[in-house]
Amino acid sequence: MQIDIDQIDLTGEVPVREPERQYYFMAKVSGYVKRRSEELGRPMTFCTQTFGCQMNSRDSEKLEGILEAVGFVQTDTEEADFVLYNTCTVRENANLKVYGRLGVLNSLKKKNPDMMIALCGCMMQEEDVVEKIKKSYRFVDVIFGTHNIYKLAELLYQRLEAKKMVVDIWKGTDQVVEDLPADRKYSFKSGVNIMFGCDNFCSYCIVPYVRGRERSRSPKDIITEIKGLADDGVVEIMLLGQNVNSYGKTLEEPVSFANLLSQADEVEGLERIRFMTSHPKDLSDELIETMKNSKKVCRHIHLPLQSGSSRILKLMNRRYTKEKYLDLVDKIRTAMPDISITTDIIVGFPGETEEDFLETLDVVRKVRFDSAFTFIYSKRTGTPAAKMEDQIPDEVIKDRFDRLLSLVQQISSEVCGREVHTVQKVLAEEVNDHKEGYLTGRLSSNTTVHFKGDPSLIGKIVDVYLDESKGFYYMGTLRP
Ligand code: 5AD
Ligand code: SF4
Repeated sequence: MQIDIDQIDLTGEVPVREPERQYYFMAKVSGYVKRRSEELGRPMTFCTQTFGCQMNSRDSEKLEGILEAVGFVQTDTEEADFVLYNTCTVRENANLKVYGRLGVLNSLKKKNPDMMIALCGCMMQEEDVVEKIKKSYRFVDVIFGTHNIYKLAELLYQRLEAKKMVVDIWKGTDQVVEDLPADRKYSFKSGVNIMFGCDNFCSYCIVPYVRGRERSRSPKDIITEIKGLADDGVVEIMLLGQNVNSYGKTLEEPVSFANLLSQADEVEGLERIRFMTSHPKDLSDELIETMKNSKKVCRHIHLPLQSGSSRILKLMNRRYTKEKYLDLVDKIRTAMPDISITTDIIVGFPGETEEDFLETLDVVRKVRFDSAFTFIYSKRTGTPAAKMEDQIPDEVIKDRFDRLLSLVQQISSEVCGREVHTVQKVLAEEVNDHKEGYLTGRLSSNTTVHFKGDPSLIGKIVDVYLDESKGFYYMGTLRP
């Protein structure tokens, strides 16, 4: 359902139901944007900055869809009439970045009286953050969280009417509002939310507190969205959830993630399916079988390890052991020998000893990950780990981090070349900025390849011969 906001009757009552209510407010704000653009003699502009994970990127596409629907024009610079930061709080660094940039926004706002600044996303779900912004960053216009991004037009309207800061943060929700616009960054690929929130409560992680309880969308709504995307020219989708392997367990009629994948596999026109993220504790044999039998599900799995020490994994509340993780990798590789496995690893969790750390290195050596995101443990207030004794000194963490990174890089440069001298299916994604006449694309394994090609190929899946492995990427030649 897409509604033409120019046709909405603004004389009647404000609709109570969603998404009708939001379309009503979009029409209201659109009137304001139109009037003000005419007065200014130029279009009103917006700029979004997205921090953090793929979930936030997808949320930003929805926010941008609303802003475009009301008549704002997107720009890359923060010298815009509406600047929106979609924040992350998974590590302390992410928060510091936002505070730093708010100072810059304040000086821009002094030059442009029309400018409005909005903050949303995970960081805004933390009470102390919102208090700090209310006190020390009075120039911010709108603050909202992760549960009510669909309300952007309504909040914007409130701000225009009230002419003071609007704050709307929800502790949680069981509502999933469908059928609002979204502005996809790529015309040919898209994220699709299949679930929201997380119930795992890994002891270091703030996500369950800021994204709320796990909620799955109905398979019918998801498949309808995917069909719509495919009809619109999308060839690759990424199914998104904090833990896709527990998808559907709490639905009235429970459905497994593997079953959802099989349904997505049937969608005509769609050529590739990815998903993110898998929790090792819930990865089923059924899923491995479904992946193996599918031509569309990509040969890549992101399987966060976090630590290789069973003792630390227990303290992290991950609910698997080192041995179980290694067995799972074996099972996946037996079924799909060509699969690429990537991971996340945290260094310096409270109480991590040198022996624990060596266990992590041991898993890295045994699994030989295609790539690994390595993180320094960041203490997040409100999580159980923040209260644990024996926080690790910075210099010890730094030393371990460097050793881990160099091992991970060495292995991935060896592993990533395994498809060299073969022809692979590649989704051409963008013009290569560094090499004239070249395009950049992705293999099923998610590795990138640069090859000579015409921009008209972007969005198409083409055959590319991989001439040379450069460690983390390939140089290739287009095959006719
Ligand atoms: N400190 C460091 N890394 C963290 N992650 C989550 N919480 C923290 C934390 N407090 C990492 C995990 C997760 C990834 C998205 O971020 O590795 O998989
Ligand atoms: Fe955080 Fe664990 Fe949930 Fe991932 S599974 S979002 S690490 S609590």
